[in-house]
Amino acid sequence: APFAHHATPKNKLIAPFVNEVSVNTIFLYAGIATLSILFLYAIKPILYVKRKQNEPPIVPYWIPFIGSAITMGLDPIKFYRKYQQEYGNYFTFILLGRRMVTCLGTEGNNFVFNAKLADASAEAAYKSLTVPVFGKGVVYDVHNSVLMEQKKFVKSGLSNENLRAYVPMIEMETKNYFSRWDKKSDIQDVHKAAAELIIMTASKCLLGDEVRSKLDESFAQIFHDLDGGFKPVNFLFDDLPLPSNKLRDQAHVKMRNFFMDIMKDRREKGITDRTDIMQYLTTNCQYKSGKKLSDEESAHIMIAMLMAGQHTSSTTTAWALLYLAARPTLFNELRQEQIDILGSLHEPLTFDAIKKLTLHDNVVRETLRLRPPILNIIRKVLRDLPIPGTQYVVPKDSYIQSVLAVSHRSEGYFESAETFNPNRWIDFDQNNKERDDDLVDYGFGVLHRASAKSPFLPFGAGRHRCIGEPFAYVQIKTIIAVFVRMFDLALHENTFPECDFTSMIVQPKSSLVQYTKRDN
Ligand code: HEM
Repeated sequence: APFAHHATPKNKLIAPFVNEVSVNTIFLYAGIATLSILFLYAIKPILYVKRKQNEPPIVPYWIPFIGSAITMGLDPIKFYRKYQQEYGNYFTFILLGRRMVTCLGTEGNNFVFNAKLADASAEAAYKSLTVPVFGKGVVYDVHNSVLMEQKKFVKSGLSNENLRAYVPMIEMETKNYFSRWDKKSDIQDVHKAAAELIIMTASKCLLGDEVRSKLDESFAQIFHDLDGGFKPVNFLFDDLPLPSNKLRDQAHVKMRNFFMDIMKDRREKGITDRTDIMQYLTTNCQYKSGKKLSDEESAHIMIAMLMAGQHTSSTTTAWALLYLAARPTLFNELRQEQIDILGSLHEPLTFDAIKKLTLHDNVVRETLRLRPPILNIIRKVLRDLPIPGTQYVVPKDSYIQSVLAVSHRSEGYFESAETFNPNRWIDFDQNNKERDDDLVDYGFGVLHRASAKSPFLPFGAGRHRCIGEPFAYVQIKTIIAVFVRMFDLALHENTFPECDFTSMIVQPKSSLVQYTKRDN
């Protein structure tokens, strides 16, 4: 009761005041909200990208500038498939202020890969990422016509004659490497093993014995620091003052000098009998202008090759072994194929035998179909660019991109597209013969122009097509051939790993396997 007595007058005093405050506050908030809406509406054209007339549809997004970076980054394939269903093969999404025009299906692939030089540029898209790593005077730091000549040099250096010499080297390196898996059975990380083995075999074959012999010491650290510069943020921004970029720049100088010292040393000692690319570049290469390839350019090309092949081939090898681990019967089939071609599992591997190992080939192909290491192929658009067969025009300064994994994993092109089935390739080439009247040579060998319309393009197409494919196949197939002779494999805890999309190359999130040593 006493409290009730006090409460009444107090409430009487406060109540009108509270009511007044509430009304004022409501008006105040309403005013702020209206002004904010008006303000946001006024600055919307500044904050949000406005769709131009005839531009492909823009995927809606909430956060200005960031755009769809987060939703796309979480699961790119899901993202692209979702908007493909909604908009068709061409749509734009905003990525940190950039217009990324996604071009899907075989026509979309063809649009990106066969874009004319005056319309779209790879160097404008990749320069900030690659020039500090590879160095000046090569690849995306030079006019496209110079790149074409440099690609021709490398392609000629990867001749069948040289590849023939590489197979026994890769076989030996692989046997030596896996001799460290010496328990009868154990758990090991197959991606770590593939990465170490790919750099060992690539160094031995392409860069030479001198580089290979330093791999366990100084060279490994230089490679690691240089590789640290190969990250998505450097694709988006020019020369950020990051500690990793400082290390990258120091490592670049060290690696270039290291290669150039070896070149000088070989010259002084009169060494000319090597089968590596260093030998080829420093003795056989002259531009059409008559200028010889300089040692610095040779060193930079060697860095570019090392970087282009390392993560692509090592993740492919890791994924292939993971797919095999999920299908133990394939191990027996692969071994049987080797016995059929070579006579026994004890015969040394040769280039000619490797070429005949069709199932091994199809395992690699099928892995590249489901897990193409390079997710997006990107070009910067140099002038407003109409998309043939549509009413769309891509505005100048946008980026066009092809996403290989979408056509690779599309039911429209591949039956049971999500299933790993190496045998699907048995008749593929027969059924997809290219016409011989549509040939084109950009300067590094004849290509089928129409090949850019294939739904399967793990090595790209057109003027920027990969020239490392024959080496990659020889390397990966030889490693797998040796591996199946030595081990059987099962997935760790029976789980096939998911994709990690956060780095430049699509990697397995986990890569543990249970191996069992075979008694041969
Ligand atoms: C270009 C994939 C291994 C050297 C490309 C492209 C793709 C690709 C998709 C086209 C890029 C674009 O159009 O923007 C792969 C895959 C590999 C592999 C999946 C392994 C499984 C290698 C190796 C080397 C190499 C081992 C070197 C020995 C190159 C070069 C280019 C290229 C020089 C040309 C770049 C250009 O013209 O712009 N690669 N690559 N690649 N790759 Fe490979």
